[in-house]
Amino acid sequence: MRMYDLITKKKNGDALTKEEISFIVNGFTNGSIPDYQMSAFLMAVCLKGMNLEETIDLTMAMVHSGDVLDLSPIAGKKADKHSTGGVGDKTSLIVGPMVAALGVPVAKMSGRGLGHTGGTIDKLESFPGFSVSLSDQEFFDNVNRMKLAIIGQTANLAPADKKMYALRDVTATVNNYSLIASSIMSKKIAAGSDVIVLDVKVGSGAFMKTLEEAEELAKVMVQIGTGVGRETYAVLSDMGQPLGNYVGNSLEVREAIDTLKGDGPADLLEASVSLATYMLLGAGRATSVDEAEKLLLGTIEDGSALKKLAEFVEAQGGDASYVWNPDKFPRTEFIEEMISAEDGYVAEILTDEIGMTSLVLGGGRETKESEIDYSVGIRIWKKVGDYVRKGESLARLYGNDVAKLKAAAPRLMNAYRLSSERVEAPKHVMGIVTKDGVKRF
Ligand code: URA
Repeated sequence: MRMYDLITKKKNGDALTKEEISFIVNGFTNGSIPDYQMSAFLMAVCLKGMNLEETIDLTMAMVHSGDVLDLSPIAGKKADKHSTGGVGDKTSLIVGPMVAALGVPVAKMSGRGLGHTGGTIDKLESFPGFSVSLSDQEFFDNVNRMKLAIIGQTANLAPADKKMYALRDVTATVNNYSLIASSIMSKKIAAGSDVIVLDVKVGSGAFMKTLEEAEELAKVMVQIGTGVGRETYAVLSDMGQPLGNYVGNSLEVREAIDTLKGDGPADLLEASVSLATYMLLGAGRATSVDEAEKLLLGTIEDGSALKKLAEFVEAQGGDASYVWNPDKFPRTEFIEEMISAEDGYVAEILTDEIGMTSLVLGGGRETKESEIDYSVGIRIWKKVGDYVRKGESLARLYGNDVAKLKAAAPRLMNAYRLSSERVEAPKHVMGIVTKDGVKRF
């Protein structure tokens, strides 16, 4: 087999065989296929597409490019969730404890922040002492004992994806359904859970800007997961504004704790319950959406989900007293209100700009080596559909560095678009994709 011929085949719009796709993925991973040939191939995929069978073959070749986690030492049906990336998205911190409190094992691998989007691992590390590096045995033992553990992605999980993603990032070949779907699903399948619930984000803070695009991507991912024997669901959710009212690591942890106490914002609770619902259904812990929702809300009412969060934080070396007393999280030295210069309805929030504002304040990484400031971030006072009067604050910045605050303030102000016309608050959960089809809400 020659890479040249396979590039030509895809350039002509023909479908590749499983063997040909394995040849490409293995060759690129082991270095025998150079970047320039892989770039040409990826561009041919972007222009000509791949059919579902090719997409599944590509995904599985990427899964087998590295370690595949064997979760069989963990009893029961394991459930996982994955977000395609968002701003203010702290649902894992809520969903994990709720689902685990109901006895469903959650053995999860999470990521750090990427670009303007935040990552669960960075949020969890706001707890002093918290560690995401557990041995395989500790990981299995923790999930068997208390149904919840979250670790960082191991270096050798889907290494083909790591290499391909880096190349796609710089060759304008990120935006193809088959490439995005195989990238996400290869990592989820290699991570070993039986039930995969995807949170596919739509809007200005997401990869997919329209509901139609998100639905297309969700369908491909659900078909891939189902095709390889995993119960797969995709919730379509709005990322046209940040989720909840806080963006920034420890601020988001505090908001997650409030939500587990029953004091969280409605959109965050709705998102979390919706994702957790499909984890319960997939794991057979509930047989209807209504039953699942009742069970999940029960874990908030009886305090078992909050207790589970504390137990999990402690088991991974973190200081669980912060769960019971969130005022222990350090406060920033400065706060600054973003005052509206006019009256109007909030018509749009450029969500990626809010994510970048948090990063500029020090809440994310400018370079791989950057140290995160866990305490900085943003309090969103006004969301889409809200009315704001001249002189009222749209949002508050929390910072520790005057220069960074100066750089962040105009970014945040520019993220808001006001309108004199009344604007409807958007629905947060917009639809669900299962193997049986799409349901829009
Ligand atoms: N997230 C991923 O992991 N891969 C993509 O291609 C896009 C988003």
